Amino acid sequence: MRIFVAGGAGFIGSNFIHYFLNAHPKAEVLNFDKLTYAGNLDNLAALADDGRYKFVQGDIAEAGAVEATVEDFKPDTIVNFAAETHVDRSIHGSLRDFVFANVMGPQVLCEATKKFKVPLFIQISTDEVFGALGLDESRKFTEETAFAPNMPYAACKAGGDLICRSYFQTFKTPVIVTHCSNNYGPYQFPEKFIPQAIFKALANLPAPIYGDGLYVRDWIYVTDHCAAIDLLIERGAPGEVYNIGADNERHNIDVVRLLLKMLGKSEMLTVEVQDRPGHDRRYAIDALKMKALGWAPEFGVEKFEAGLRKTVEWYQANGDWVEKLRARQKEINPHIKITKNIEHKI
Ligand SMILES: NC(=O)c1ccc[n+]([C@@H]2O[C@H](COP(=O)([O-])OP(=O)(O)OC[C@H]3O[C@@H](n4cnc5c(N)ncnc54)[C@H](O)[C@@H]3O)[C@@H](O)[C@H]2O)c1
Repeated sequence: MRIFVAGGAGFIGSNFIHYFLNAHPKAEVLNFDKLTYAGNLDNLAALADDGRYKFVQGDIAEAGAVEATVEDFKPDTIVNFAAETHVDRSIHGSLRDFVFANVMGPQVLCEATKKFKVPLFIQISTDEVFGALGLDESRKFTEETAFAPNMPYAACKAGGDLICRSYFQTFKTPVIVTHCSNNYGPYQFPEKFIPQAIFKALANLPAPIYGDGLYVRDWIYVTDHCAAIDLLIERGAPGEVYNIGADNERHNIDVVRLLLKMLGKSEMLTVEVQDRPGHDRRYAIDALKMKALGWAPEFGVEKFEAGLRKTVEWYQANGDWVEKLRARQKEINPHIKITKNIEHKI
């Protein structure tokens, strides 16, 4: 198996490369990544001398670079994790970067799949394309739920997904699109909710909570997501869409409290930060279609604490990874603004 992984230096991409090479000792992986602020080759340091792994620095929105690499590597499958992924940056930063990476990128990869007759292209997307659910409803997102993205990040991801759909409908280009819920685990860039809370708490600083903290996210341990993609490489049907989630809905505030408890810190070590405009209240994935294919999460609802503990332990054991990242990237989350006096909470 020869897998072209786009965005393999990021959080989920690097976990996927480790997962895949472990599960398939004879596989070869080419990691094609632009190395934006979120790309970190330290995530793959253990593979530096592994002959099965190769790295090429490049931008998925640049057709020339992508096509030359695909033509040369001749992959059996392309999996695309490359994207601009931080919602706050899509609101306060350059939306143009999001359009290039998340809309143009998938188009270029579809075109390369078509042109070089790659047997399968898997576009990794998000549940955020479906918009928001209410706290008072039990409905979840299914594969049939209509797209209604609210955040600029989500709108760009939806654009990329629709381009993939059109390549299948029009040209029969073999594309699968997946929509996954929120991931947690090792190697996640600390601008994101869970690692951010861990880093702050480890430094005795308050963990930021958006607004009232009652936002609901449906958490999945990252290797469960990787296992689902691995299964789709084997059994997924081109042209189909698959939702991936572990039935694990939690309020943000409860996740932070659990983390603080695990770290032996006061529950009060939190701070309210300025809410996102139009912040989606709740996401929840119905993953029945994936389960029918034979997939089940190892860290389902009853093992969420075990998954969180594993995550906390990884960050505690990998202080060097964090410090190197901090040295490289002074402002981890430049858009966060504290709205309440924090003195009494520390
Ligand atoms: N993190 C989550 O909870 C989550 C949930 C559902 C779906 N997703 C999707 O999974 C994918 C991976 O997410 P992540 O959290 O690992 O992201 P990340 O931000 O950690 O990593 C993104 C990677 O893509 C690279 N990249 C960005 N633009 C690029 C470009 N134009 N060309 C080549 N490489 C580029 C970056 O250098 C980085 O290595 C994304 O498509 C995201 O939308 C993420």
